[in-house]
Amino acid sequence: MAAVTGVIDSQVFILGDAVVRLEREVAELSRAKHAIGCASGTDALLLAFRALDIGRGDEVITTPFTFFATAGTIHNVGATPVFVDIEPRTFNIDPSAVKAAVTSRTKAVVPVDLFGQMAAMECFPQLLPGMPIIEDAAQSIGARRTIGGKDRMAGEVATIGTFSFFPSKNLGGYGDGGMMVTQDDALATRLRQLRVHGGLKTYYHDEVGYNSRLDALQAAVLSTKLRHLESWSERRRSNAAYYNTAFADVPEITTPYTEPMNVTIVNQYTIRCQRRDDLQRHLNEKKIGNSVYYPLPLHLQPCFAHLGYKQGALPESERASREVLSLPVYPELTRSQLDEVIGAVRSFYSRSV
Ligand SMILES: Cc1ncc(COP(=O)(O)O)c(C=O)c1O
Repeated sequence: MAAVTGVIDSQVFILGDAVVRLEREVAELSRAKHAIGCASGTDALLLAFRALDIGRGDEVITTPFTFFATAGTIHNVGATPVFVDIEPRTFNIDPSAVKAAVTSRTKAVVPVDLFGQMAAMECFPQLLPGMPIIEDAAQSIGARRTIGGKDRMAGEVATIGTFSFFPSKNLGGYGDGGMMVTQDDALATRLRQLRVHGGLKTYYHDEVGYNSRLDALQAAVLSTKLRHLESWSERRRSNAAYYNTAFADVPEITTPYTEPMNVTIVNQYTIRCQRRDDLQRHLNEKKIGNSVYYPLPLHLQPCFAHLGYKQGALPESERASREVLSLPVYPELTRSQLDEVIGAVRSFYSRSV
């Protein structure tokens, strides 16, 4: 409240000091040279594509097992999303499938760090030297991966990394918000320009950009919450470990897999399970929060029918859509609440609790 009141007293509601401070903090966390706040994680992707001059006639390779914004923004800059399948254990894009999808029109790759775990970021520069990599880290701020013997942060090794501050993220605002990070000075300037209608000098426009500014009130809330991010993510990890142990003897359930080189922030705790829809109904009856991320992979969405993907085209993504269920994992969960979730899931599979 003190941070919020401070912004109200300052009467600077758009960008300003609070946003500059958050940008500095997120840059430090992500070990990025630049961080640029914007209106949402969706806009962060949109501005990233624009800054890389991706548009009509271009193809961008990505995963279909992600939130819609990943591909919606590719479409909205006039480019074509090219979907490749996921690696079934992590749900992240399968790097071996990426190379096969490259054509002369490919302009970028968008790996998504799904559910809090970084994608195999080291693979893309090896597979596609010089190709821009936009890391959709909307769900993974603060996640780490050991690459070449070094700890790398989500967003750090990408051409541009993007974050969302949607309230359900580990670092969630009191409304919408987003950020882009990059090590590249020229891209940073372009992103700053694009978020204010394409002109850094007021009322002069070098290009046509957007209104995609981060509110100072959101930045103040986020800076305050950022101090707790690591401890909250740690609580999520321990909640996840508790579930993993509790479900270890239930053969109908596959608990989430974290690659040994990754430190996940567990934005979602997502199991694969048999009779998923029945289990979901059972949990709903018991008023236990749950969600299916994502029930229909993007290559099969009606809005992308013109791309010509057929059922069965990307079998791992489609299987994941049928099997996944995310359970409550937020840091404030008490032990008895965790036990209640575990009891409900186990009883569905007729296991003792
Ligand atoms: C993977 C992914 N990409 C992009 C976004 C878009 O972020 P926002 O909702 O802030 O626009 C989200 C989150 O909602 C997401 O989970």
